[in-house]
Amino acid sequence: MVIAGGGRIRGRTTVPGDKSVSHRAAMLGALAQGETVIENFLAGQDCLSTLSCLRALGVTVEGPAGGVVRVAGVGTDGLREPEDVLDAGNSGTTMRLMLGVLAGQPFFSVLTGDGSLRNRPMARVTEPLSAMGASIMGRRGDSRAPLAVRGGRLTGRSFRTPTASAQVKSAILLAGLFADGVTAVTEPAPSRDHTERLLAAFGATVEQDGHRVAVPGRPVLRGRRVRVPGDLSSAAFMLVAAAILPGSDLTVEDVGLNPTRTGLLEVLAAMGADVTVSERGETCGEPVGGIRVRSGGLSGTVVGGDLIPRLIDEIPVLAVAAACARGTTVIRDAAELRVKESDRIAGVAGLLAAMGADVRTTGDGLVVNGGRPLSGTVVDARGDHRLAMAGAVAGLAARGETVIPDGDVIDVSFPGFAGLLASLREG
Ligand code: S3P
Repeated sequence: MVIAGGGRIRGRTTVPGDKSVSHRAAMLGALAQGETVIENFLAGQDCLSTLSCLRALGVTVEGPAGGVVRVAGVGTDGLREPEDVLDAGNSGTTMRLMLGVLAGQPFFSVLTGDGSLRNRPMARVTEPLSAMGASIMGRRGDSRAPLAVRGGRLTGRSFRTPTASAQVKSAILLAGLFADGVTAVTEPAPSRDHTERLLAAFGATVEQDGHRVAVPGRPVLRGRRVRVPGDLSSAAFMLVAAAILPGSDLTVEDVGLNPTRTGLLEVLAAMGADVTVSERGETCGEPVGGIRVRSGGLSGTVVGGDLIPRLIDEIPVLAVAAACARGTTVIRDAAELRVKESDRIAGVAGLLAAMGADVRTTGDGLVVNGGRPLSGTVVDARGDHRLAMAGAVAGLAARGETVIPDGDVIDVSFPGFAGLLASLREG
């Protein structure tokens, strides 16, 4: 992928469907009785990995065709032992949420993924699932994939998680669907709550009390129509581009506005961008609407604490905004970034520094002294889709040409990124 610097972003657009909601809709559709029709399903590699795992577990899945996926639900007792290893590809959500489902199955299964996913920590999921009664073995003391699961009768338990992670919370809640009694998770700060909202939409009882969520075991889930909102984490790249390129005015329509995901919008507004959010309705309990961003002279800011889980996937592109802002931006409490698809703290600092930015890493974040001119270069995206897109956005603000050799990794979450970006550029 080659990006020429300069110009501005103008227009009105939509972005592909939400990755987190697409995964969950497909999984819950499989566990429901009757058909689930998912519209605007994200046809990115990650969500296709979830569909192929479900097919290998005996679920009939049609599509995606024209954005629509049809899942013939088999009910909570209907999954079959897979004949081969299940491959989650690059997708942490597929692996962790599937582990929750597989923990409750009376059969044997093995889950693996690509080189990045096989290096990501899984004990955060395998330990609570084992405490519920599943038997899970894997590399490095059962903490790395490939992971072998012998599921079975689970007992509901209450867990207190050390970090706010929706993947961990969701794995436990999904296992809770197969458990005797009530399964509960208390988080240190709220992480995205799509699992809770969709479970309720499929007919499960979900009890919420502050940072604690609980599900009684063995609900009957009913298949339904799900319309997936646009992915705010994909819109983020376009919105930050509009915020940093003078003269920009961009509206993204039909995008998810779940408050557990909208931290970036608050930070961009605090930095000086002109941000307008218009909520227009909801789908399966998920608020949806439009976001308009007009460029403004950005200033540095401090981002940390409970805000971090609400913008965790947006931090690479937020660091790009920080490099284009006046003054210093401090991002802290974000150590989780080191165990994403790549070490995103080191990755984004490396790519911004290569372009001329003044950026320093800390154990749990970044310090960016903004305002230095950026120059196009060859970006090392470390095979990470969000670093590749952050590099592209930085390239727009840079002098000269920016080259992203592994730009095809963007298909993991945002197929059509380059074409959409080109269609919104002027000048
Ligand atoms: C996700 C949760 C987040 C996020 C990831 C998607 C999800 O990960 O970074 O891209 O769909 O549940 P963690 O749960 O590890 O924070």
